[in-house]
Amino acid sequence: MSAAIIIDSIKHVLIEALAIPAIPDNWVQVVENKENNYSIRLKLPFPHDKIQSLWQQQVMQALTENNTIHIHSLQWQWESTIVALETPANVKTLPQVKNIIAIASGKGGVGKSTVTTNLALALAAEGARVGILDADIYGPNQPNLLGVTEKPQVQGKALIPLLKHGVQSMSIGYLLDSAETPVIWRGPMVSGALQQLLYDTLWHELDYLLIDMPPGTGDIQLTLSQKIPVSGAVIVTTPQDLALLDVQKAVNMFKKVAIPLLGVVENMAYYHCPQCQHTDAIFGEAGGKRMAENFDLDLLGLLPLNTEIRRASDAGIPLVVSAPESAITQNYQQIALKMVARLALRATQVKRRFAKIVVE
Ligand SMILES: Nc1ncnc2c1ncn2[C@@H]1O[C@H](COP(=O)(O)OP(=O)(O)OP(=O)(O)O)[C@@H](O)[C@H]1O
Ligand SMILES: [Mg+2]
Repeated sequence: MSAAIIIDSIKHVLIEALAIPAIPDNWVQVVENKENNYSIRLKLPFPHDKIQSLWQQQVMQALTENNTIHIHSLQWQWESTIVALETPANVKTLPQVKNIIAIASGKGGVGKSTVTTNLALALAAEGARVGILDADIYGPNQPNLLGVTEKPQVQGKALIPLLKHGVQSMSIGYLLDSAETPVIWRGPMVSGALQQLLYDTLWHELDYLLIDMPPGTGDIQLTLSQKIPVSGAVIVTTPQDLALLDVQKAVNMFKKVAIPLLGVVENMAYYHCPQCQHTDAIFGEAGGKRMAENFDLDLLGLLPLNTEIRRASDAGIPLVVSAPESAITQNYQQIALKMVARLALRATQVKRRFAKIVVE
């Protein structure tokens, strides 16, 4: 009876944090060892090193407030097993990369690159092994965002990814002499360059590889959907209506090529004035929410328009690293966890869909 109350409290905390309707039973096990002494074992299919103490505290608080249960001791055991999702059979796989997630938008300048970097770093802070592939062949931003100035070393025909802030990355920007040099590519070259950057990089054991997509729905998006084993995509939007229309194109494209959409991130959603403490929805309210509803997608979270985000990015030390305990870092952390939890839930759904139906 008490074990059931503990399980319910844990599930409740996880449901709130991840904004999912239910928690699979095999994620949470509680055993009563001796009277009122419990062992809790959480087996979560995503990383949680940083968040787990907060979740533990929230559960403890709920249990303390529940006076129908008597607890003498609780022993916590947290485990994380990140599985590799199935990808289409006709694309070349990357055995050393478990999951590839594309971060995309229809319109330029909505903050995809900034979101990609900070989500990658937030996942690394939770204990995941993370990489970033800068798929913006025309205007690579990851070198500046990550503050990488070195060139990658070459091993045989392959490139060794650059490691910065605990995250591996590869960008065409690392190979150009100057970021100012304009790159003129034709469609097939772009597609080839992207595949080479992905397959000819010696990624070292990644749980997640985040792809920072260029804007639009052109050649790179096509390559991505046809040639690269993508497990899921996230759409970044700003709340303006025009941006939303552009995003609809991106959403439609991913749906057409059957890449699962994990959700929407609404960037620059509001402005909080540090002087007067007023919060203003500059571009109108709830655009991402509306779009999420229209397309039956989850809204993974909102991010403010904030000087520190831009300043940290410009300095090459993204906010999640420069201000790890800030409120905005927590926004990125929550979005990152919702994103990978949804990816993991998809894995169980895929299995279920193929499960045998036995008629008795
Ligand atoms: N939430 C935010 N608050 C303030 N500035 C932001 C925010 N998100 C992004 N920026 C800034 O907005 C600009 C555009 O962001 P970013 O380069 O990430 O967009 P993008 O969608 O990747 O653009 P592109 O389509 O050109 O690749 C950058 O100067 C970045 O620092
Ligand atoms: Mg970009």
